[in-house]
Amino acid sequence: MSEAERELSWRHERGATGLRLGSGAFERVLGGTTRRFPSAPLLVVDESVLVGHRARLGAAAEACGGASIVALPGGEHAKRFAELERVLEACAAARLPRDGLLIAIGGGACTDLAGLAAALWMRGVAWVAVPTTLLALVDASVGGKTAINLGAAKNLVGTFHAPCEVALDPSFLATLPGPELRSGLAEVVKAALLSADDSFAELERFDPKSELSSPRWLDVIERAVRLKVAVVERDERESGPRRALNLGHTLAHGLEQERGFGVLRHGDAVAIGLVAACDFAVARGLLRPEQRARVVALLARFGLPLAPPRDLEVAAVLRALQLDKKIERGRLRYVLPCGLPAATDGAVAFVDDLSLDEIERWLYSSIETSSSASQ
Ligand SMILES: NC(=O)c1ccc[n+]([C@@H]2O[C@H](COP(=O)([O-])OP(=O)(O)OC[C@H]3O[C@@H](n4cnc5c(N)ncnc54)[C@H](O)[C@@H]3O)[C@@H](O)[C@H]2O)c1
Ligand SMILES: [Zn+2]
Repeated sequence: MSEAERELSWRHERGATGLRLGSGAFERVLGGTTRRFPSAPLLVVDESVLVGHRARLGAAAEACGGASIVALPGGEHAKRFAELERVLEACAAARLPRDGLLIAIGGGACTDLAGLAAALWMRGVAWVAVPTTLLALVDASVGGKTAINLGAAKNLVGTFHAPCEVALDPSFLATLPGPELRSGLAEVVKAALLSADDSFAELERFDPKSELSSPRWLDVIERAVRLKVAVVERDERESGPRRALNLGHTLAHGLEQERGFGVLRHGDAVAIGLVAACDFAVARGLLRPEQRARVVALLARFGLPLAPPRDLEVAAVLRALQLDKKIERGRLRYVLPCGLPAATDGAVAFVDDLSLDEIERWLYSSIETSSSASQ
């Protein structure tokens, strides 16, 4: 793959979204897109990103006709009705017209909220996603899902509203705290496990300490984004094949809920969920033990956790799994890997023979293994 800026495209029911990948993609997308709109856009920015990139964002706002900037609190605090209202009030204050443009610059929480505001303002205006975390670069910016949380659970209120452009600009990652970058790597590993090409083997050769704008990082991001595009293009509304993206996520959500949302990083929970999924796959003959060992070794090399925390309340995880929407007619629908590499992009096994007892046994035995390993 060349070092020049890379262009990808994602086709969906509203047309196609262009994705530009490379350092400086932000300015290039902004320059190209804002010219097509009659009025200045509204910039919705994660406050940590605003602090870390103030001069750059100020210059960008200036360059697109004196755009207003709304800052959102970092993380899940952004995904609340109060913040949605604040962004919509800012649209009103800026007199954003029906053919206006909203630009979301931040992690997945910021782009989820801003995308929803764009879907609602005047029954839907165009928006551009500028993801600034690794997780948002490789996952949240593709697929068109937007959402906010309710007290009861995450992402209960939302809609599909695809951005018209996505700027995949890894230079924003320079200010991202290390644990957030590591957490995003779990989604990269998941994408590689779902890929039919040599993505997984490439990751085994990849050093995450490489320069963020290097071709190596661009390759890693591009492969993960291409996999997500391939899967969502086949199943925009998540009626079937898109569920493959839930690999490692059923248990991850249970673990996140047991800790209390925001305590265990999503990617860390996904890493543990991937180890469990590999173990369940080995038990069913879907994956060979040496393939499972490669996944575990890669997650370990990236500094990701392989087992639940020692003080885990197993019963609470099982209760959360029982309430999960992946339970159909009393059976837990589970996504397992089958083969490394996958036979085709997004190929997984959907099983419904996995009992809560088997998950309980896995949790207890992996906690024990991790405790004895760390003694
Ligand atoms: N729409 C989708 O398809 C989709 C897919 C996956 C995840 N999500 C959603 O994404 C959210 C998680 O996103 P996330 O992991 O990007 O986390 P996040 O948006 O919560 O951001 C994590 C932290 O990093 C900070 N931050 C962001 N960019 C930064 C930067 N460049 N420099 C310094 N700090 C920075 C934020 O302020 C926050 O504190 C969840 O709400 C999840 O539901 C959505
Ligand atoms: Zn995820």
